[in-house]
Amino acid sequence: MKFNEPASTNPIDQLKVVGQPVDRIDGPLKTTGTAPYAMDRHDVVPNQAHGYVIGSAIPSGRIVAIDLAAAKAAPGVIAIVTAQNAGKLAKGNFNTALLLGGPRVQHYHQAVALVVAETFEQARDAAALVRIRYERDKGAYDLQAVRHKAVAPKKEAAETRVGNFTGAFASSPVQHDGEYHTAHESHMMMEPHASVAAWDGDQLTVWTSNQMIAWARGDLAKTLGIPKDKVRVLSPYIGGGFGSKLFLRADVLLAALGARAARRPVRVPLQRALIPNNTTHRSATVQRIRIGATREGKITAIAHESWSGNLKDGSPENAATQTRALYAGEHRMTANRVAEMDLPEANAMRAPGEAPGMAALEIAMDEMAEKLGIDPVQLRILNDTQVVPDNPEKPASSDPQSKKPEKEKHNPHPPFSKRQFIQCLQTGAQRFGWERRNARPASVRDGRWLVGMGMAAAFRDNLLTKSAARVRLDRRGILTVETDMTDIGTGSYTIIAQTASEMMGVPLERVRVRLGDSSFPASCGSGGQWGGNNSTAGVYAACMKLREAVARQAGLDPERAIFADGLVRAGGRSLPLGEAVGGRELVGEDLIEYGDINTRFQQSTFGAHFVEVGVDAVTCEVRIRRMLAVCAAGRILNPKTARSQVIGAMTMGAGAALMEELAVDKRLGYFVNHDLAGYEVPVHADIPHQEVIFLDEVDPMSSPMKAKGIAELGICGVAAAIANAVYNATGVRVREYPITLDKLI
Ligand code: MOS
Repeated sequence: MKFNEPASTNPIDQLKVVGQPVDRIDGPLKTTGTAPYAMDRHDVVPNQAHGYVIGSAIPSGRIVAIDLAAAKAAPGVIAIVTAQNAGKLAKGNFNTALLLGGPRVQHYHQAVALVVAETFEQARDAAALVRIRYERDKGAYDLQAVRHKAVAPKKEAAETRVGNFTGAFASSPVQHDGEYHTAHESHMMMEPHASVAAWDGDQLTVWTSNQMIAWARGDLAKTLGIPKDKVRVLSPYIGGGFGSKLFLRADVLLAALGARAARRPVRVPLQRALIPNNTTHRSATVQRIRIGATREGKITAIAHESWSGNLKDGSPENAATQTRALYAGEHRMTANRVAEMDLPEANAMRAPGEAPGMAALEIAMDEMAEKLGIDPVQLRILNDTQVVPDNPEKPASSDPQSKKPEKEKHNPHPPFSKRQFIQCLQTGAQRFGWERRNARPASVRDGRWLVGMGMAAAFRDNLLTKSAARVRLDRRGILTVETDMTDIGTGSYTIIAQTASEMMGVPLERVRVRLGDSSFPASCGSGGQWGGNNSTAGVYAACMKLREAVARQAGLDPERAIFADGLVRAGGRSLPLGEAVGGRELVGEDLIEYGDINTRFQQSTFGAHFVEVGVDAVTCEVRIRRMLAVCAAGRILNPKTARSQVIGAMTMGAGAALMEELAVDKRLGYFVNHDLAGYEVPVHADIPHQEVIFLDEVDPMSSPMKAKGIAELGICGVAAAIANAVYNATGVRVREYPITLDKLI
């Protein structure tokens, strides 16, 4: 089904089930520990051997010699995989560094060997006996030191210009020019990357933890040099991803290679202490933001430049991109530059681009508001725009799953499909009690606490991408949905069940949802907050097909058939769905695809964050007191799961603001705090009070669901709202995250 027009009324609009705060249907499985994660697959995959990954001890250079003799002779050892004996391996489409290194080493903890043994302990002991001699190269590990070598990659339209920024900025009566720093960050999901692999002849099956089943399957086949149809990937339950599990990682490949070498199934839990350096992270950024405005607060010139680091051929962290679309202003420029470095691979982490970009831009806006003597909420309202001020022509389609170039005529200033930014700001200000804020910093005290309020805008793109599903209806009237969509803790099972229930008029208890299996139709997967809207739209399309099949089978007019209360009705006739299928199972399968609606309208989600903090007047300890997010993100398919996504994102934003940082050893070239003990994330005591308001919104341009993404919007801007609150509390302007107390003393 091609979706290219604003949707008219459709079955979803009944909102009997969709839009209701239904509990997560996978909730009981998860809270009772019975959801089968990859490492729980003992029953379906017997006789598993255990793999232990050896990560490179140097960040950059080469392996001169590997001595496996002692390890091979150790008790229980079955096989040892290295690049030398693994056979020819290709590089996948999505990883920048090789998943199995050697002899060349590209980053610290890059996997260089897998030891397979009868038990985990035997594999670990034998791994300690593997002797590897390295030759170290001099590498680049300090972003500040190599920043001047950074470039804006051409293929990504990484640099844009509108009008004459330099001239307009120079002649602006009020100017701000600031530099901001965000830290290297790690996803730190609860469930580690982990896989079980089993071969049956030339057929490979892996049980893993992955957000994007079709990408993982394609890259595993490509890396091993085998046909895609010989690979099956299963990932029905995932204990968090945040972008770290968008791509095939070493655990999957090594489990497959280990199982081939051992001639039996092999399980590989990537050791926690390897994860931050072995997998991907969000690169630190340096950002320069210049804003010029009239005395009345109208922005005339705005420039946002970002510098980040990555391995050779890696992408930049696109922290400047939202600045093309968020605020008005005639003269503008943006640049996303990347410097070649030898730290582990940088890649997507929750709201890649916007999360660090908004963290900087929204401090700059606060600084500008202060210079102008205008309320920060008011300054943002003054500079609202209903068309995109700077929409560069992209060299290729922005559809993440398509490489086809767009043929449509480029519109440099497309309208937003929906933009309720001002409403978010106004609602938030009113609900938070913003008028009680004292604009003079360090002027409110509560006992030993200096108290301040801060706010920031939230902005994140809404990506449209194709997604397929299959829906089966059996004689008992049971509806089964099958799609390779994943549920990374977001509630996919639940909103997909709600969608199918609404479309077919079947009660929720009669809907079964099966996800995360590459033998099901390929979905959009879970990434970039596109999963909710697009995967349910795929289910919508499949249900439309099934409705037609059921009506025809029952001899009813498909155009007139009404599906409700477990019945199908038309022309005075009515029969239970189980009967309507006529003694057999009926199947509807379809793919939702988007035409040029994506380029005719800018698809974005909007919000506003408000935060109150207390800062201890003596120790400078920062404590969040309350947080409010107001979101305008299309139809909310399930306010309970959506709220959970937003408060989770706000918590992650609080982490970025106050504590999260992968500390670089600039001499040895690696992240030092590479485990859950050393990498600080917020705990419950850090987050006393959160509130989320969803504005009433439907976006008929986004899909037949009229929904948009929400899970990443919630993180965008939070860090800046906290930084601005800290400034309001103390008068100390910190432009370098995380805002630890040493920066306030
Ligand atoms: Mo998200 S960073 O695309 O999982």
